Amino acid sequence: MTPASDNSSDPGQVFAPAPTPAPNPVPNPVPAPVPSQRRVCVVSGSSSGIGAATVLRYAREGWDVVVNCAHRIEPAQAVADACRALGVSALVVRADVASDADCRRLAAEVEAAFGRVDVLVNSAGTTKFVAAKDLDGLQAEDFQRIYAVNVIGPWQMTRALLPLLQRQPGSGVVNISSIAATMGVGSSIAYMASKGALNAMTVGLARALGPQVRVNAIAPGMVDSPWLKQGLGAERYAATAVGYRARATLDALILPEDVADAAWWLGAGAAKTTGEVILLDAGLRLSRG
Ligand SMILES: NC(=O)c1ccc[n+]([C@@H]2O[C@H](COP(=O)([O-])OP(=O)(O)OC[C@H]3O[C@@H](n4cnc5c(N)ncnc54)[C@H](OP(=O)(O)O)[C@@H]3O)[C@@H](O)[C@H]2O)c1
Repeated sequence: MTPASDNSSDPGQVFAPAPTPAPNPVPNPVPAPVPSQRRVCVVSGSSSGIGAATVLRYAREGWDVVVNCAHRIEPAQAVADACRALGVSALVVRADVASDADCRRLAAEVEAAFGRVDVLVNSAGTTKFVAAKDLDGLQAEDFQRIYAVNVIGPWQMTRALLPLLQRQPGSGVVNISSIAATMGVGSSIAYMASKGALNAMTVGLARALGPQVRVNAIAPGMVDSPWLKQGLGAERYAATAVGYRARATLDALILPEDVADAAWWLGAGAAKTTGEVILLDAGLRLSRG
């Protein structure tokens, strides 16, 4: 073990001055053009749900945006068209966040198109719907696939876009986590574990990337988006929604636009906030009595 790794693994060293970081190994393959005059937000998984609401929120505020999807390009194009109708530029990049090569290609395309990135929102996520008590319903491969998208994905996206983020004062990363990380509810144990890891990574990256880049997360409760409707089916979705509202102090589900509001504040504002995981659950944790 090298002296450097000795240092970094000793919690007692946490308040010691950080060593000068090595240059970021990610190359900037395309020379930067004149950067966009408008600020730029990249949102992974923005062809649907929370991600789509978030790019639209930034576009409404006059930012140029990057819309990302992994599979179906048509919904991504539709979201980009809606952003362009608001008077901003929108780039669509199909890229699987679980693939480092895809993330680096996305970063190169964004740099060529806009020459800057001010905010990255990591919203792309995946799961497998398996009841928590059904231990045989989840295999190691399920954990690995979910971890690859929900944890390694945000890591790779952040690393690929870091040289661009570091050029913009006050830039930020916002990770979309879930109450599943802390409440033991959600689509599966593998999903809960992945969001717990994402929370831990948020705090670690916040410490590592300051003072240039802030890193925060949002942990929504049950969101009214295609995710749960498709995963649970219409009948179970309706019953789950009734149960959620009955327990949540504010008697409400979360809307994608609610998460987008929080992602807007954490990305574009919140100048003194980093390493935070904001619970957005309509008061579920208070459990109405
Ligand atoms: N819905 C909820 O109740 C809820 C609650 C808490 C947290 N969350 C979190 O919120 C995030 C977004 O969920 P949502 O409700 O907006 O889901 P959604 O409506 O199903 O949208 C998922 C988006 O992610 C994209 N995507 C999936 N895998 C990807 C990958 N490997 N690389 C790039 N893009 C990928 C999808 O594009 P394609 O269709 O092209 O794959 C789509 O744009 C997820 O991280 C989820 O864990 C959701």
